[in-house]
Amino acid sequence: MQEKEIAYALVTGGSEGIGRAIAIELAKKQIPLIIVALDQPVLARTAQEIREEYGVEVHTFGIDLSRDDAPEQVYKWFKTRNFSLRVLVNNAGFGRSGLMHDIRLSEYYTMIDLNNRATVGLTYLLLPELQLHPEAHILIMSSMEAALPLPYKAVYAGTKNFLYGYGLALREELAGTSVNVSILCPGPTVTNESGMKRLKAQPNSKYLVSMPDKVAKLGIDGMFRKKNIIVPGFFPATLFRLGRLMPAGMKMNLLEKIAQNFKNNPG
Ligand SMILES: NC(=O)c1ccc[n+]([C@@H]2O[C@H](COP(=O)([O-])OP(=O)(O)OC[C@H]3O[C@@H](n4cnc5c(N)ncnc54)[C@H](OP(=O)(O)O)[C@@H]3O)[C@@H](O)[C@H]2O)c1
Repeated sequence: MQEKEIAYALVTGGSEGIGRAIAIELAKKQIPLIIVALDQPVLARTAQEIREEYGVEVHTFGIDLSRDDAPEQVYKWFKTRNFSLRVLVNNAGFGRSGLMHDIRLSEYYTMIDLNNRATVGLTYLLLPELQLHPEAHILIMSSMEAALPLPYKAVYAGTKNFLYGYGLALREELAGTSVNVSILCPGPTVTNESGMKRLKAQPNSKYLVSMPDKVAKLGIDGMFRKKNIIVPGFFPATLFRLGRLMPAGMKMNLLEKIAQNFKNNPG
């Protein structure tokens, strides 16, 4: 039996961290969800928690999105159901820090495949589905590092700059159509225990550091208001603006000094 047509939001990396908070934010608006993340127990657990708490339909598809065929697999899975798509959140991603050669080349390739290739693939394949809806949205997860590319996180900063440029350009291509594109550029966000410990050890960083629920709320509200660039929080937003105005030499010199911790503690 075919399932009835319901307008869904698809969130990649929606099982944990900011993606999970975004899924919850959408569920609060009673938008049914498709969560795509690695096929691990946390995916089913998150889906069940959201169903129970917010009473919305939640479907899950477990897949490694850095795989070459992942976007096509997600698309095939989606097409075999009679779903319609209203929101696509390209959130899944990861980063590494350290000197260029502290990290294996294969890991950089995986980062680029997950952060960039999967986003382009899913957006390409699912855009026609979004265009069927009278109003639809794409949210692209970039980072504050789009304006402030940190040394010792060069490849990660590169992937986030790609997403920033890609999102802005696509937004213009789609201007005047039913599909809005917004780019979310959070500053440092506490998504795990070690992040929380670091925050407690450096209380001053609370001005810069955000919590996932705040990032998600501002991100989703901004997306529905069709904002182009969303930088959650006063300090991150101010730094982001400064970062775009400062001459590159001066900015990078300063960032290199700030990023010493990444140089000394690769991870
Ligand atoms: N945290 C920050 O400070 C910060 C700041 C700016 C931007 N961002 C961006 O925000 C996004 C989310 O970051 P986060 O800190 O919330 O990360 P996170 O807590 O590590 O969560 C990442 C999510 O992506 C999923 N995922 C990871 N690798 C995957 C793969 N190969 N295939 C499919 N799903 C995969 C994870 O699934 P599993 O649970 O199964 O592992 C999880 O749901 C990233 O794009 C990141 O670059 C983060």
